[in-house]
Amino acid sequence: MKAETLALPAFETLELPAQLRRDLRSDHAGETGAVFIYRGILKNTTCPDVIEFAEEHLATETEHLHILDTWLPATCRSRLLPLWRCSGWLLGMFAARLGCHFTFATIKAVEQFVVAHYEAQIVQTSGALQALLITLQSDEEAHRDDAAARLPSSNPGHALWSVLVKSGSASAVYLARWV
Ligand SMILES: [Fe+2]
Ligand SMILES: [Fe+2]
Repeated sequence: MKAETLALPAFETLELPAQLRRDLRSDHAGETGAVFIYRGILKNTTCPDVIEFAEEHLATETEHLHILDTWLPATCRSRLLPLWRCSGWLLGMFAARLGCHFTFATIKAVEQFVVAHYEAQIVQTSGALQALLITLQSDEEAHRDDAAARLPSSNPGHALWSVLVKSGSASAVYLARWV
């Protein structure tokens, strides 16, 4: 993981616009949710491929969360963290109980959303913060591609589920930006 080695200036020394502060609050909420999605998956699957997949991704998401936990002041985090933990875990549980392919389809949809979410911030930032966001995004791209590579070709059920997952993710980001 390269992000932790990036020399991020202390958060308080950066005069970030309010919108970017809201984005970072949603990033921290999202990385919290991601850790709990994988924990929910691992508690509810017996599929060896999914276990290997989720353990590897969980290690990366745990590092992402650690970086943001270390850098982002508590006052700049969502007050709804218990909700993000709970909803992440339930999404992971639901996906895992519906099977291996359904789990990979869920992660593919979540990571497609997260890659676009980080991209919107990358184009507005510079320096060490932008480098951090690029590093986080590139890990999410790898997760997205890993999930996609484990799926058979197109499946209408997965496509519909992907729309639902992305709209749920968008609603969560909207809320976490403000609360
Ligand atoms: Fe992440
Ligand atoms: Fe990820």
